[in-house]
Amino acid sequence: MFPQTRMRRYRNSENLRSMVRESRLHVEQLIYPLFVIEGEQIKNPIDSMPGVYQFSLDNVLAEVERAVQAGIKSLLLFGIPAAKDAVGTGAYAEDGIVQKALRLIRENYPDLVLIADCCLCEYTDHGHCGVLVDDYVENDPTLNLLAKTAVSQARAGADIIAPSDMMDGRVGAIRRALDENGFKNVAVMSYAAKYASSFYGPFRDAAGSAPQFGDRKTYQMDPACSVRQAMAETELDVMEGADYIIVKPALAYMDIITKTRASFYQPVVAYNVSGEYSMVKAAAMQGWIDEKKIVMEIMTGFIRSGSDLIITYHAVDVANWLKEQ
Ligand code: PBG
Repeated sequence: MFPQTRMRRYRNSENLRSMVRESRLHVEQLIYPLFVIEGEQIKNPIDSMPGVYQFSLDNVLAEVERAVQAGIKSLLLFGIPAAKDAVGTGAYAEDGIVQKALRLIRENYPDLVLIADCCLCEYTDHGHCGVLVDDYVENDPTLNLLAKTAVSQARAGADIIAPSDMMDGRVGAIRRALDENGFKNVAVMSYAAKYASSFYGPFRDAAGSAPQFGDRKTYQMDPACSVRQAMAETELDVMEGADYIIVKPALAYMDIITKTRASFYQPVVAYNVSGEYSMVKAAAMQGWIDEKKIVMEIMTGFIRSGSDLIITYHAVDVANWLKEQ
């Protein structure tokens, strides 16, 4: 009790504070998302995500090199195809945009960890994450297409497949298809607890993947649903073979990160999503907040809450700031 106990004794110098610091971020924990687009000489800025671009393949290696120079070890790839159709053919085409990007980056960077987003919404003309039957996103016929997508991505050089669609049973379908096609060592990083969130708005500008009607509420989780439902989603994915589990979005769902970390042994991945990024960028551009300090505090929060890995559009900046420290 006070006055014998004074907590401020731990804080009175930088060296004292650093002795009892335990939430530390390492560059190896950062995953950098990249948007690749068909075409040439493209570096399209995303208005709602300052600092984020769509890159054509002839421009993407320069961005990869910038990330590698900063110390980044892993990338998450999203693709914007030239054409879309009802069944998202571009997602599982052998010469699809992500498949081509995987081959190109793998050729030039044999050791980079390449993670492929596995979903149909960027490739369907209706913008939903699965195939439609009477305007309903039908679960089971979608599974085959996701499995095909995963196998084609593995064949192109992906180390990890990251299904973000939220269909039931997709992790199992993907795991089986990978094994049957000789990719037993390709891992699955599943978006296990993914909520139907308004924080994805800017991403849909970047990926051109906004649903053309309705919303994603019949497949992504309700933000106010029980925490037990998030645990059930995660447990199902783990039982179907997920090697890593993503909680998405991250900032408004840190309770889920903490609970997931306590209940499962698979590495927990925080997805610091587009809307979270854009809010920080917008306030920083107004001069209302200190971008570097705010971003590093957010990253510390993810680590403290139990994240093993962090997917973030800030990754290259964070990696460079870590070097300065
Ligand atoms: C596709 C997908 C989305 C995100 C990642 N994969 C959008 C969505 O579900 O609508 C969002 C990422 C972000 O906001 O940064 N299913």
